[in-house]
Amino acid sequence: MIEIRDNLYVLNTNNTTYAFRVMETGHLEHLYYGSKINIADPDSLVEKHKFQPGNSIAYDSEHAEFTLEDMCLEMSGYGKGDIREPFVEVVAADGSTTTDFVFESAEKLAGKEALETLPSSYDNAKEVETLRIELKDKNNGYTLRLNYYVFADTDVISRDAKFINTSDEEVKLRRLMSAQLDLNKAGLVVSSFHGGWVKEMQKYDTTVNIGKFVNSSYTGSSSNRSNPFIMVSDANTSAEYGDCYGFNLVYSGNHYEAVEVNAYDKTRIVTGINPQGFEFTIAPGESFEAPEAIMTYSHDGHDGMSRHMHDFVKEHIVRGEWKDKERPLLLNSWEASYFNISESSLVKLAKMGKDVGVELFVMDDGWFGERHDDKRALGDWTPNKKKLPGGVDGLCRKINKLGLDFGIWIEPEMVNVDSDLYRAHPEWSIEIPGKHHSEGRNQRILDFANPEVVDYITESMVKVLGSANIAYVKWDMNRIFSDYYSQYLPKDRQGELSHRYIMGVYKLAKNLTEKFPHILFEGCASGGNRFDLGALCYFPQIWGSDNTDAISRLSIQNGYSYGYPLNTVTAHVSSCPNHQTLRSTPLATRFAVASFGVLGYETNLCDLSKDELKEIKAQIELYKKYRKTWQFGDFYRVEYGNHVMWNVVSKDKKQAIGMLVQKEVMPNEMYACFRAKGLDPDMKYHFTNIKTEYNVKLFGDLINTAAPFHVKPGSLMQNLIAKFVKMPGEVEDYVCYGSAIMNEGVRLHQSFVGTGYDGDVRFFPDYSGRLYFMEAVED
Ligand code: DGJ
Repeated sequence: MIEIRDNLYVLNTNNTTYAFRVMETGHLEHLYYGSKINIADPDSLVEKHKFQPGNSIAYDSEHAEFTLEDMCLEMSGYGKGDIREPFVEVVAADGSTTTDFVFESAEKLAGKEALETLPSSYDNAKEVETLRIELKDKNNGYTLRLNYYVFADTDVISRDAKFINTSDEEVKLRRLMSAQLDLNKAGLVVSSFHGGWVKEMQKYDTTVNIGKFVNSSYTGSSSNRSNPFIMVSDANTSAEYGDCYGFNLVYSGNHYEAVEVNAYDKTRIVTGINPQGFEFTIAPGESFEAPEAIMTYSHDGHDGMSRHMHDFVKEHIVRGEWKDKERPLLLNSWEASYFNISESSLVKLAKMGKDVGVELFVMDDGWFGERHDDKRALGDWTPNKKKLPGGVDGLCRKINKLGLDFGIWIEPEMVNVDSDLYRAHPEWSIEIPGKHHSEGRNQRILDFANPEVVDYITESMVKVLGSANIAYVKWDMNRIFSDYYSQYLPKDRQGELSHRYIMGVYKLAKNLTEKFPHILFEGCASGGNRFDLGALCYFPQIWGSDNTDAISRLSIQNGYSYGYPLNTVTAHVSSCPNHQTLRSTPLATRFAVASFGVLGYETNLCDLSKDELKEIKAQIELYKKYRKTWQFGDFYRVEYGNHVMWNVVSKDKKQAIGMLVQKEVMPNEMYACFRAKGLDPDMKYHFTNIKTEYNVKLFGDLINTAAPFHVKPGSLMQNLIAKFVKMPGEVEDYVCYGSAIMNEGVRLHQSFVGTGYDGDVRFFPDYSGRLYFMEAVED
């Protein structure tokens, strides 16, 4: 997979090739990244430089033809003529910032070593190969180690970098990127994913013809504002065809991705820790590791790139007991009760959950200290005895006795000023003593750069998690950074805070996941404020958004799906009107959308009607039946517009599930086709939907077109009729070849357009949703 030929380095995955060479000057020239190629004469890939362009810097008098600004490079220092985004920036003891890193050595290694200070991808099968390049800075003697990891199976090449201070003096590291990719073209389209609370992962496309596009976070987290995952594609790349590169970072803190086009139509892509506010002091002999960056390329458009990323995350990021285990179907107490919880109300809710078939009951916020609202008690991790007289264990036993597993909510990184912890240790909070502090959800961030704080919180959490038979933990984090200041770090090392904080978070995550390997940890940060590959190294699944509205979730989950597999995104069916949007959507649609994630329920089941409970029970049965495919199959986006179509296919292609959701009904638009992707073209599938009946009340006063007497909407008579008369829903039932479903699709029953209704018509008003099931049949 890794071929070293003289000065040429070729990294091959199953379908891609990455190549670079060492130039005469010792710099690394990037030659190629794309579909797999064979390289006979490497000179054919080398850019021919003879005379430098005017008004540029020649590298030196011996190489007057080379201007680093006009080269595709594997990494770039600062100050030697390359005026683009640097890979590394160091302030030497004399205050100079120019570095000139040139080739020193190369080594090919079997397997992949884990990073020492950060989570990173892993390779259980020992199939990965590593190429380690060491560069030496000609000005100050620093060492830079670049690692390239080749994951042939998932067509991923990942990179990381280590700065080693091999000089005699202390230096300030201001930036160390994880990966740099220089491409010899301009006008590429960057797709990046932005939003905020309850509107995560909205996809934006930006064409970069000249100048710079930056996707970064300064929230202290990977953030819901700008996820670290980006795609870079050709202007004519589509879902299924064309060049598409995907990049992601195994990091949960402030990140930075820049896509820059220079005066010579070269595009530079860098990804790494955000240099804003970042400065690390590195003493002689010390080093600094940049997080691992993931890169993939596909010629099969955005879909092909997504498939690589999904497989990579499933195989090389998510780990532990839950990696390949079907995830439990849970009921969460948050939207059912918020802070108003007690042992008896929780047990009552859990019992309802058991009746409809859930497997795990989760007690969300409000169970500890004086936590009656979001103003107090974070940090005081002992159960509130008034709410839980038997403590966590007492409640857990009762839940277990119902036949359900029990899970708990924690927010270990935070403290309220109104808490015993803050009163005892105000110096443990991130704030500038004596200065006005800006607030976020009335809480402050604990200084996880301070190892004493991490040790203390580890101990408190071990106490909580060890106190009962806890099967699941929701690890929340509800505040972004402001007033950056560590009372632990010296004043000249404050630029280390955000990175040290995230290393502290990882330390706690490691401590707890190692101590409690059976617990399923779910990440959460006000929803998706920390949805990234670093978090996924500890939490196999993450709460995608606090927005549980099915229609909002379409764009949110569609956004996640570009870079993350379905089984990493959790999604709940909640009540209507929805708590975030006040929108009402059919229960069937809420289920359809949430089932394209790790399904859960988050609603007060005690308040639901018998019909709704019956429907939920049926949904849960169905989910369990198809859970393996939903959670571990291959996911495909088919259409995203007013109609949203997704489908998921089992690994053996014998089973598939499709979803169709309509945002807004269009008048006199009666036909729709369901199309799927990823099926076996030669396999025959039995295509069906869920047989449904509709409440006549949904037809309003149209009932009078059929009733022998006048029925007033809202009247007792209408309610009485509704009790006994149900309107039949359409039945889709066909046997089709995969090729037909994928190319033409299945023509669905005509939808209602105001001219008549019977069981052969699709009841399809605003926000309607359907699930379709495709099961392989023998001839
Ligand atoms: C924010 C989370 O995203 C919610 O699901 C819930 O757990 C609340 N925090 C609890 O405070």
